Amino acid sequence: MVEADCLLCHLRGYNFEERIAQLEKGTYQWAVVAGSGLGIVEGSVKDGQAPKLVYNKRFFNADGKVLLDWAGPPPSKNCSYCHRRSDVYKRGFTWADMHNPEIHHQQGMECVDCHPAELDHQIHKGASEVNRVADELDNTMRGCQECHESGFGGATKPRHVTVRPSHIKRLACEACHIPRIQRATTMGHESTTGELVFLTKPPGANQAGDPAVWGPDYERREGGVVHAFNSFLMRWWGNLEEDGIIYPLFLREQAAGWKLFQAAVSDDNKDGNPEVNRDDEIIAGLKAYASSLHGNRRFRRIHPVHVSPGGAFHLDERGRLARLPYDLTGLAKINFPISHNVAPARMALGTRECVECHATTAHFFNGPRYVNLSGPDGHPVSERMGIAIGAGSFAFTLSSLHLEILRPLISIGIILVVFLITLHYHSYGPKRIPFVPYSHEVKRFTLVERGVHLFRLISFVVLSVTGLIMAFNLRAWQELLFASPEQVRTCHTVFGVVFVVTTILGTFIWFKDALFADYDKQWVRLIGGYLGYKGAVPAGRFNAGQKMFYWYTTIFGNVMSVTGLLLIFDSLVSLPALVFTSTLHNLLGFILIAGVLAHAYLGTIANPGTWHVLVDGYVTRQWAEHHHPQWYHAMVEPATPQPADSEPET
Ligand code: HEC
Ligand code: HEC
Ligand code: HEC
Ligand code: HEC
Ligand code: HEC
Ligand code: HEC
Repeated sequence: MVEADCLLCHLRGYNFEERIAQLEKGTYQWAVVAGSGLGIVEGSVKDGQAPKLVYNKRFFNADGKVLLDWAGPPPSKNCSYCHRRSDVYKRGFTWADMHNPEIHHQQGMECVDCHPAELDHQIHKGASEVNRVADELDNTMRGCQECHESGFGGATKPRHVTVRPSHIKRLACEACHIPRIQRATTMGHESTTGELVFLTKPPGANQAGDPAVWGPDYERREGGVVHAFNSFLMRWWGNLEEDGIIYPLFLREQAAGWKLFQAAVSDDNKDGNPEVNRDDEIIAGLKAYASSLHGNRRFRRIHPVHVSPGGAFHLDERGRLARLPYDLTGLAKINFPISHNVAPARMALGTRECVECHATTAHFFNGPRYVNLSGPDGHPVSERMGIAIGAGSFAFTLSSLHLEILRPLISIGIILVVFLITLHYHSYGPKRIPFVPYSHEVKRFTLVERGVHLFRLISFVVLSVTGLIMAFNLRAWQELLFASPEQVRTCHTVFGVVFVVTTILGTFIWFKDALFADYDKQWVRLIGGYLGYKGAVPAGRFNAGQKMFYWYTTIFGNVMSVTGLLLIFDSLVSLPALVFTSTLHNLLGFILIAGVLAHAYLGTIANPGTWHVLVDGYVTRQWAEHHHPQWYHAMVEPATPQPADSEPET
């Protein structure tokens, strides 16, 4: 037996090749001496020779003690000797590599900084579901947060000024910080012809480890968090034993069956490796193995199965191809987490723009995700990346529409509103009926009304600013006004609640005044006199324009409230619904902002002084009669004219 010797990990410059050479010669006993360079070993046990050992005296003191370059915590190079080989196949992981830089290596860190161990040598690890070794050590390692939240070992605490807080919650650090891998890995392997054939990822690369660029696969892990993986696919022949387990056939068993049905199999993509991918080929194979396995002493029952990411297939009692109800995870597909090769922060996804992930061309949602090694044409089958995380074409199209098309259009829309307002002012100027503040003649708004309006106004302004910062990712404004994106979101939430409350109150308070009357038709015909008409325009307590504004803000404001609440409690909503909600929320938000801009214009510049009514609540008789004749007359005519009540209001 041979064990991992201590020096394997702990000696700087340990010669693994020499150790392997000795193992191949069967010289187990002296492998460590050769590997550590303590001596030179000659002769091969395999060839029946007795190994000859010559110690290298340079390592010994006069009293015979050994002096070695012992490294307390093992250097990464030693760990990598074993791990880089397997990991370049499984994850594309490389450590000290110019093609595939890893920021922690560049910063002088070692494997044991994240995977430490105590003297018991239980090397701490994560909880990837890939390996079932030492499960008791699951999640004992130092995760990203552990260092980067506490500043352990000089790790920077990220401020994430460009990142939406919802994304930090829903995406693993690695999903953004390992945007791509720059060495080919394996997409999977198949052994249907009795030979192990590795398919590379990206397709077209010669072999795993060659310089080539590909993007990770994204799937959810514990808690629904999106992680980066290499989804490794497998296609093979197995045997369904009595115990219900599908046992893979040895390569030589697969090769024996292959001889019987290879004539029935074509090489659809002409790459020199025939693919068992069509139903007739699978059926031919299953029949071939039923006879080639006959008498195989490994199994108590012979029942061949073809396993591929498309399903586990067998021949049912009537000899038809049928799917077995097996979970293919681990059988035909293994998700190797991608957690190394963290790129420098400036290369993280989302550094520049949201569309690095959300664009129609971006890998994150739209890149190819390989789901089978060979389709009917012999080429790998892929689907859209987003599907696995629940962003099907509806959610995806909506989110790219939202971020790529709607946002630019909406900024143009807002500029257009400002332009129209300026144009209107320029053409018609302000109205001439002067507004006299503190007249105490006609009471127009109660204290409650004014309060509701004021708080709704304040919350709306704050919501607009924070909303625009979030929607357009306005980093400069965010830096100027807030400490972090979380603050923007919190502020938006708090004022959102004020807005919800005042919107509901406003809906009730002004409901009666906002019901349309007959004379409103005339107002509409005259466009409220806003386009130059100088005569009298009928209007109740609110004119038709204001009534329309009431309905506009009430409907949109309430929809904004509901969608906003859904966005706060986002865990209750499915992803497509969430994308829909946030698109709607943003779109209506912009429309509201445009409307409120026009409303503010009419209440200030276009009708100078009008805004005072919101401070003292009173208007003059002349003003009331001019702007709201029906209201004014209804108030004064039935009864005898009476002085406006002047109860104290504070
Ligand atoms: C698979 C690699 C590996 C092998 C093999 C291994 N070690 Fe370790 N050893 C480690 C790791 C990892 C640590 C923890 C380093 C840390 O977290 O700082 C460690 C720590 C130690 C330490 C304490 C570190 C120090 O010097 O302060 C000693 C002593 C030690 N090992 C001795 C041994 C001996 C003796 C053997 C052989 C019986 C051995 N190791 C085999 C990986 C290994
Ligand atoms: C002699 C080869 C060899 C060396 C050297 C070696 N490992 Fe391993 N390591 C393995 C094998 C084999 C496994 C178990 C098989 C597997 O899970 O892939 C393993 C398992 C692990 C695991 C757990 C894997 C899992 O999936 O749960 C971690 C973490 C790990 N090694 C880290 C290290 C670190 C850190 C070092 C350096 C201190 C190191 N290894 C050195 C061969 C090696
Ligand atoms: C910056 C921290 C960091 C460093 C440095 C680091 N790893 Fe990891 N490693 C991780 C994380 C995070 C995971 C994923 C754990 C999971 O998926 O739950 C991981 C996973 C692994 C795994 C798979 C086992 C598992 O737990 O899923 C192995 C093996 C491994 N690392 C070996 C190494 C080796 C060898 C080195 C040095 C060459 C190294 N790591 C350096 C963070 C690190
Ligand atoms: C053992 C502690 C430790 C762990 C665990 C760790 N890091 Fe780091 N990380 C550091 C240190 C130290 C640096 C170098 C100082 C710096 O720039 O923050 C660094 C640097 C970085 C940088 C570069 C910052 C820059 O300015 O470019 C990124 C990005 C990063 N880490 C992300 C991660 C991710 C993602 C994980 C999890 C896979 C992780 N870190 C795990 C300690 C750690
Ligand atoms: C949605 C993508 C995303 C996620 C998730 C994410 N980051 Fe980042 N990270 C970025 C971007 C983009 C930057 C660079 C710009 C910035 O700071 O906003 C960055 C910057 C950093 C930096 C450099 C900080 C600095 O100020 O120089 C570190 C360190 C870091 N992230 C660590 C982490 C850790 C740890 C996690 C997991 C808890 C994580 N990130 C999750 C996108 C992300
Ligand atoms: C690293 C890739 C990435 C980047 C960069 C990114 N997103 Fe996302 N986005 C996602 C993923 C993945 C989801 C789905 C999250 C989930 O459901 O768990 C998502 C969901 C969303 C949603 C719907 C759910 C929610 O959080 O409200 C919106 C809206 C959104 N992103 C907008 C943005 C904006 C705006 C930016 C730029 C500031 C941005 N995204 C940057 C990957 C990204």
